[in-house]
Amino acid sequence: MILLRSIKIIIGDLKKSASHFQIKQLETQMEKAVIAQKSPYGIKMEPGKYAWCACGKSAKQPFCDGTHKGSEFKPVIVDITQPKEVWWCGCKHTKTAPFCDGSHKSL
Ligand code: FES
Repeated sequence: MILLRSIKIIIGDLKKSASHFQIKQLETQMEKAVIAQKSPYGIKMEPGKYAWCACGKSAKQPFCDGTHKGSEFKPVIVDITQPKEVWWCGCKHTKTAPFCDGSHKSL
């Protein structure tokens, strides 16, 4: 009886350790983007390819300056084919990257 109880306690501790380890592993894998600003960057764009900063750490917001290197973030490349005003996400939490979807309002 005592042996069975001990085994149950050990199994319970192992389950707790595994889930704690898995949660910690997920937390480290899911880096959070830095909020560059809580509003979009409205910019009149000329045709060309642009790299939108996804990590939020670029000094050239809303565009990539390479600061993401070594992180899990990569810039989003956009090909603008005609002159137009673009609302680039500044909070880095949009679900329609690289464009603002209003998510900044709930941050
Ligand atoms: S600035 Fe990020 S969703 Fe609007």
